[in-house]
Amino acid sequence: MNVIFLGPPGAGKGTQAQRICNALNIPQISTGDILRRAMKEETPTGLKAKSFIEAGLLVPDEVIIDIVRERLAQDDCQNGYILDGFPRTVPQAEALETIAKIDVVVDLDVADEELIARLSGRRVCLNCGATYHVSHLNGETKCAKCGEELIQRKDDSAETVLARLNVYHEQTAPLVDFYQKKGTLKVIDGAQDMDTIFESILAVMKG
Ligand code: AP5
Ligand code: ZN
Repeated sequence: MNVIFLGPPGAGKGTQAQRICNALNIPQISTGDILRRAMKEETPTGLKAKSFIEAGLLVPDEVIIDIVRERLAQDDCQNGYILDGFPRTVPQAEALETIAKIDVVVDLDVADEELIARLSGRRVCLNCGATYHVSHLNGETKCAKCGEELIQRKDDSAETVLARLNVYHEQTAPLVDFYQKKGTLKVIDGAQDMDTIFESILAVMKG
């Protein structure tokens, strides 16, 4: 089953994609994670993406579409995948139509004030992609999954979070309508607790 996780920054796409992918043994394809890895390794794509990401802006469509096209051609995508953070613009969604058949689009719906609180307290592991919130870490500074030091993403600074939310409302929110019209959209209240959201996503994926 090929699934898209749609939703604003901080809605919980990464958190839930990781859980669902572990449960179903399918790959999580996070364009944000792919770009951050490229930045860390200073590849040409990483160097190109850096200034956009740090300003809270979207990386140009052509760059992202090429990344996704290459990734979806790999063998581990044969039995389904979750696209986490792609598509984010109408041109990306239109390009995806020519690359893959999407079965379900899960839209995690969360109000802006809650998103700001989540992102400003988020800590991430750049090694394995795990995500935490300071309110649950009890002072712990290392990743519970792999032991790497946790960091605060540069784009989780207060000012950049607001820029990302604006970009979401202007460029990505129109995709809700796009997929509603295609009949694949399932909206889930992303303000619920993580376990309830997890079960709701599994339920809509089973149809
Ligand atoms: P990306 O990495 O995709 O960032 P994002 O969409 O802004 O999403 P986030 O990772 O911030 O949030 P999330 O929804 O995954 O939430 P999370 O699970 O971490 O993209 C980064 C940048 O890369 C973009 O700004 C852009 O520049 C570029 N980019 C990426 N894809 C692109 C594309 N397709 N086109 C162009 N550019 C692209 O949760 C957030 C926090 O909340 C965590 O602390 C978590 O613990 C907590 N939390 C999660 N669920 C709950 C819950 N139910 N209750 C309470 N707390 C919760
Ligand atoms: Zn880790």
